Amino acid sequence: MIRAKITGLGVYLPQNIVTNDDLAKTLDTSDEWIKSRSGIRQRHIAATGETTAQLGYHAAVRALKDASLTIDDIDTIIVATTTPERTTPSTGAYIQHQFGVSHGAVFDVQAACSGFVYGLDTAAARIETGRSQNTLMIAAETISRITDWQDRSTAVLFGDGAGAVVMQASETPDKKSGAQVLGSYLRLDGMLTDILETDGGASYNQTSGVLRMHGKEVFRHAVRNIASSVEILLEQENMTMDEIDWFIPHQANLRIIDAVGKKLNFPEAKTIISVDKHANTSAASIPLALAVGVEDGRIKRGDTLMLAAMGAGLSWGSSLVRW
Ligand code: ACO
Repeated sequence: MIRAKITGLGVYLPQNIVTNDDLAKTLDTSDEWIKSRSGIRQRHIAATGETTAQLGYHAAVRALKDASLTIDDIDTIIVATTTPERTTPSTGAYIQHQFGVSHGAVFDVQAACSGFVYGLDTAAARIETGRSQNTLMIAAETISRITDWQDRSTAVLFGDGAGAVVMQASETPDKKSGAQVLGSYLRLDGMLTDILETDGGASYNQTSGVLRMHGKEVFRHAVRNIASSVEILLEQENMTMDEIDWFIPHQANLRIIDAVGKKLNFPEAKTIISVDKHANTSAASIPLALAVGVEDGRIKRGDTLMLAAMGAGLSWGSSLVRW
């Protein structure tokens, strides 16, 4: 049985840290409001000229090092992003350009904040069917570039960053043993595009636009859909919540994460939180949180991880990973 194993992880955050108090200097908001409504204390914001492809490239270099591979070993690059380098070609093309190579398949996936679970599933499917041996799956975002900095209801919630994983084909006798992506569940409800969208687009009005959202609606759907995607995937894989060592939800808002935990009756102590430090980095938020848990030693090889996200689309989904 060929399974997809994550063999490397790397993250990159822009140097510039913006605190809630910094935002309160230009917006009618406060540290107290932002912390109590979202759990966010600070976010990293890309410097002028620092782009999605640059953040993604730095994370990818670190993931390759972690996997003890070089770019020459990689046959596929998949980039999950909501904030592409340019309208065309793909952000993956610009990341490959920075590596100075020209081999393999390279493409982007756009599933907003669910991008990492969509990308992971796409990468795993290509590996399991023999189309790829070594895939670099990168999630990179400069959400600050599609943020209306005058709109306090969205500007305080987002940040920039990138995370990458190296995924390799690995022979295992079954799903019971060995590190691997065990399964995924993906959904999107296109009847809900207007709850969270940019007010621009290349074809729509020839601009990239800024984020507009109905916060309370997003909140409600996020809790319901993230929780249901966990339950459906567990049922699909014939597993129970007790078998999950670490829950790594999309880091949009601490209140959403808490509400999902309560709905699933899952212990807070086994949930990885990084929204306080990174804010919502869209597709990059799950690998950034994963790296926090790995680096501080909580997540260990052999642990079973449940990743779950929801974002614009509305899209949502989950991945079960044996680390
Ligand atoms: N600072 C101070 N006051 C603010 C701010 C701010 N930054 N933003 C809004 N307010 C005000 C509002 O204007 C409103 O004032 P009013 O009552 O005088 O009209 C008041 O605060 C309360 O606003 P609510 O919308 O009721 O606040 P709520 O408790 O719903 O929290 C929030 C708002 C944080 C946006 C919440 O709805 C939320 O987290 N929604 C989910 C949004 C999200 O995570 N989006 C990310 C993308 S999707 C994803 O990743 C899952």
